[in-house]
Amino acid sequence: MPPGPYPYPIIGNILELGQNPHQSLFNLSKIYGPLMTLKLGSLNAIIISSPDIAKEALTKHDLAFSNRQVPDAIRVLGHHKVSLVWSPICDHWRTLRKLCSTNIFSPQKLESTSKLRHEKVEELVNFVRTRSTNGEAIDVGKVVFTTIMNSFSNTLFSMDFAQFGDGDADNGFQNFKATIESLMIDFGKANVSDLFPLLRFLDPQGIRKRGKDVIKRLLIVFGDIFDERIQLKTSSKEAYDDVLDYFINIIKVNSSAELSRHLLLHLFVDLFVAGIETTTSTIEWAMTELVHNPKKRARVKEELLQVLGKDGKPHESNISEFHYLNAIVKETFRLHPPVPFLHHKSNSMVELCGFKVPKDTQVLINLWAIGRNSSTWSDPNSFVPERFLECKMDVKGFDFELIPFGAGRRMCPALPLAHRTVHFILASLLHHFDWKIVDGMKPQELDMSEKYGLTIRKAQPLKLIPIHTNYCQ
Ligand code: HEM
Repeated sequence: MPPGPYPYPIIGNILELGQNPHQSLFNLSKIYGPLMTLKLGSLNAIIISSPDIAKEALTKHDLAFSNRQVPDAIRVLGHHKVSLVWSPICDHWRTLRKLCSTNIFSPQKLESTSKLRHEKVEELVNFVRTRSTNGEAIDVGKVVFTTIMNSFSNTLFSMDFAQFGDGDADNGFQNFKATIESLMIDFGKANVSDLFPLLRFLDPQGIRKRGKDVIKRLLIVFGDIFDERIQLKTSSKEAYDDVLDYFINIIKVNSSAELSRHLLLHLFVDLFVAGIETTTSTIEWAMTELVHNPKKRARVKEELLQVLGKDGKPHESNISEFHYLNAIVKETFRLHPPVPFLHHKSNSMVELCGFKVPKDTQVLINLWAIGRNSSTWSDPNSFVPERFLECKMDVKGFDFELIPFGAGRRMCPALPLAHRTVHFILASLLHHFDWKIVDGMKPQELDMSEKYGLTIRKAQPLKLIPIHTNYCQ
């Protein structure tokens, strides 16, 4: 096994993880190297912290490392047996990925749903404009979450799940924000039931119970929407141009077990949980860095003005022209990868960089550490989007220095949607508005601390006062 800190009896190295495991393990990698072993309770884990070893693991050994260690919190209501995110590589997983790639994330489907995302972003801009007129602050994470959730819920079901309003949409549909956020934090916690599977039946921290409550709530909501749609289709034969309708038609035409109501509801849980927090966190961190670095904000506003002119509006079709904004998004992914660790597991004994990794070892690739590696990046802790202007490095899973969406078989299938959403919302917030920090705080005083979970969010919400850009309509 690769080297690592000395494990204590029974608990192993659990205490080394601390409040922010991505940071603690980065610090440990400076002592033990970019390929480390940790004993987490009764589990063996290896931690990868360099692009070269990540490349070897996700290319040469992609298949051997392609399954995931299923957290106890997911082993509820049969979710882990059918989930796209947590299933092992198998025919069922291939079918789900293909269905999603063809019916949701293909260029044609994204083009056909683009109008809908434009409507949702327009609603966001109108809401922020009202706040700017009244000189009121907004919670950036909350309003962006609402916009992304409504974009998804309309793409999937042709309906809004939340509204802007008091508390910047805290009163949203079924309080999804708090629900999904708490799930992400619980999933990120070191759960005793995962570290000592023999204690699973006790669920000592109550994480499985909370996970079950949340997944059950989501399944009930999606189940009601599904049943209502079936009734509507039977009574009125009305057709909807949304994902639910395509999938219901697939179920009708092909009544084999490939897709069923049960599988579909669990797929919707995965898409909502995997998609909303990650995209929101990227936008919140990008806005945070731009408020922290006013000169970079001025430069991106200048670029947007040049490309769009005074009367123009950002559009998904012109985001490829925003070169500096593109560099800002890459730099945000480098410093603040929304998913700090890729979670994989060895399906067999694997020889990696001359070490032997036994079957069933948890393989954690620390994206946060890879982004801050001083042998790859100059001035690694500073926000310098300019570093991406002259280099061709991309996030598509080929440049292992920057893999916020993962790489290989388990890579995020929604990259094309996330790319559009992040650039489009950022361009809209930046072109139409300038931003002032609340309480007269100076940019350099802005809180940059992190809250660890399955995704990394800001510890303190970003509250800003929007100022309408005078040249925008
Ligand atoms: C900025 C936004 C996003 C980032 C950074 C991101 C990142 C990731 C990462 C790192 C993985 C794991 C890859 C691996 O294990 O190697 C992943 C998997 C996944 N993501 Fe995303 N994601 C984003 C947005 C989305 C969206 C919008 C959706 C859906 C609507 C989504 C759905 C999924 C699914 C279903 C998987 C599991 C794929 C599998 O296991 O086969 N993601 N994502």
